[in-house]
Amino acid sequence: MEPQANLSPENPPIGFVTGGGLEANLQVKLTVPAQTVQEGAFVVMDSGNWRFYGLVTDLQLAAVDPNYASQLNSQRFSPRLARYLNQNTLYTNLAVMPALMLEKGPDPASPEYPAWAQNRPEKVKPITVKTVPDHHAPVKLANAGDIAEIFGKEDGKTIFRVGETREQGHAVCLDLEKFVQRSSGIFGTTGSGKSFLARMILAGLIHANNASTLIFDMHNEYGPSSTSSDTGQPVSGLKQQFQSRVRLVGLGAGTDFGALHADFQLEIAHKDITPEDILQLTQTLNLKETTAATLDALQTSFGENWFTEFMNMRGKAVEEDEEGRRRPAPDSVEAWANEAGVHVGAAESLRSKLSRLMNRPYLVNSPASNGLAEIIDSLQAGRHVILSFGRFDSELDYLLVTNLITRKIRDSWEAATNQYHKDKKVEPRPLVVVVEEAHKLLNREMASQTIFSTIAREMRKYYVTLLIIDQRPSQIYDEVMSQLGTRISGALGDEDDINAVLSGLAGRNALRGMLAKLQPKEEVLMLGWGVPMPIPIRSRRYDDKFWQELHKDGQPKFATTADYNKFLGLGDDDTD
Ligand SMILES: Nc1ncnc2c1ncn2[C@@H]1O[C@H](COP(=O)(O)OP(=O)(O)OP(=O)(O)O)[C@@H](O)[C@H]1O
Ligand SMILES: [Mg+2]
Repeated sequence: MEPQANLSPENPPIGFVTGGGLEANLQVKLTVPAQTVQEGAFVVMDSGNWRFYGLVTDLQLAAVDPNYASQLNSQRFSPRLARYLNQNTLYTNLAVMPALMLEKGPDPASPEYPAWAQNRPEKVKPITVKTVPDHHAPVKLANAGDIAEIFGKEDGKTIFRVGETREQGHAVCLDLEKFVQRSSGIFGTTGSGKSFLARMILAGLIHANNASTLIFDMHNEYGPSSTSSDTGQPVSGLKQQFQSRVRLVGLGAGTDFGALHADFQLEIAHKDITPEDILQLTQTLNLKETTAATLDALQTSFGENWFTEFMNMRGKAVEEDEEGRRRPAPDSVEAWANEAGVHVGAAESLRSKLSRLMNRPYLVNSPASNGLAEIIDSLQAGRHVILSFGRFDSELDYLLVTNLITRKIRDSWEAATNQYHKDKKVEPRPLVVVVEEAHKLLNREMASQTIFSTIAREMRKYYVTLLIIDQRPSQIYDEVMSQLGTRISGALGDEDDINAVLSGLAGRNALRGMLAKLQPKEEVLMLGWGVPMPIPIRSRRYDDKFWQELHKDGQPKFATTADYNKFLGLGDDDTD
């Protein structure tokens, strides 16, 4: 793309550089009315062989002399003179955070140009800013071409439009290929639009088809279609739009979604539960420190059948031997504990606490089908899985099931990656694991035990990353937060949450104000490694028009949710 885009006469300068630097922001004197520009505006500055890109982080009223500002000229002079005086003595300063620079070479008419053009790389890429524009470099509001230069041009595939700039409505895109290379997060207070944005980005990922996604859908909002709580409008679910690419899985037998049937229902075999899965329920089940030792002994005694065997033991049972002495019954916890050399009280208490798991209907001795394997096979085959928790929406269900599945995924993807490094045959399919209410799995206490922090920290090498969605980023373990490549944040009220979102990023002070002043709804700040530079945007609307645009490359889809509902009454043909 040619950087010339900004030279058009329709985009006159709005001011010029008067001072500042890399550490402090650049200072720009505005030559247009203050209201032409808003905080967060994306500006470009041409200077020498370079084009600089920056963000407006503040606006300040200024005067050549404070006296001109402190008195009302209109009351002292004729209207003409007052206007003249105001125009020449009062102005606005912008603080501009320089972010990127792009080599655009000498003037094409200059004698140096041909030599430069010959040596330049095929595609000049913007780099992090390392120098500053000259004094008096003209400053312009970025136009659509400038924004596309930095954020890419929507291509109906991996360069995906997520929103528009706030002032002029220029499209801003996210590179989905880069997005899935590291873990990422979507944050914001309740009602700020996290779930809508997540659904939209997931739609982009499914459509682009460069990664599989596994969505732990705690509140049944991603798979089935629903109704917006604010507007009452129907909201399309992902299953509706991608009939064959998405597998909708219900947790437990009998979990269905109205007219929409789950593709299959997940039941988990007792033998799939590992001691690790139990350990991360430490807080939820209020387990004691002795638990790890007891679980170890159980596994030594019974191998993968430890859970079944343990649950088959009787809590407290005594019998009398031939001489009339009371002793623990052979099938009691006490008898096993004595034999295994484990503290009896600790084993009995664990047995009683784990009985809470026994009455989870989705945990069964021998499931009708191997749902876990089916989930993993689907993901490896490039499909997407939405696991809807149905009526099992307690913290215990969420923690247990997400960890158990994700641990299996880690094992499969690690094995596949190691195999790939050996024989270079099949490269593992990138996988994004999506978790809502992520702080439940990734808070400071849990982070060391759950599989999710391992994924955030090291699994990108094994092609697995997380997309975490949360209202309270400050409750997520900071080590995990600092690993997040792309962060997309809506309005946040709490100072700690704002700091958490910005942790480890340059220019935090300037960005803090911008985050605090986002509109309560549908405005987000995108930042982090996954985007070339931070930018506040208005989120793209997730509605019927979105789907029409996404599917315009010929895949017949339901234009409206009403059409789909009609279709549901007729049968379930495959439409991808
Ligand atoms: N991109 C969007 N397109 C259309 N409507 C939106 C969009 N973003 C937000 N909304 C509106 O805002 C409402 C709240 O959005 P959403 O449910 O995504 O909030 P949330 O941040 O997930 O809240 P919570 O934390 O409570 O789950 C939606 O019901 C919808 O009406
Ligand atoms: Mg939500």
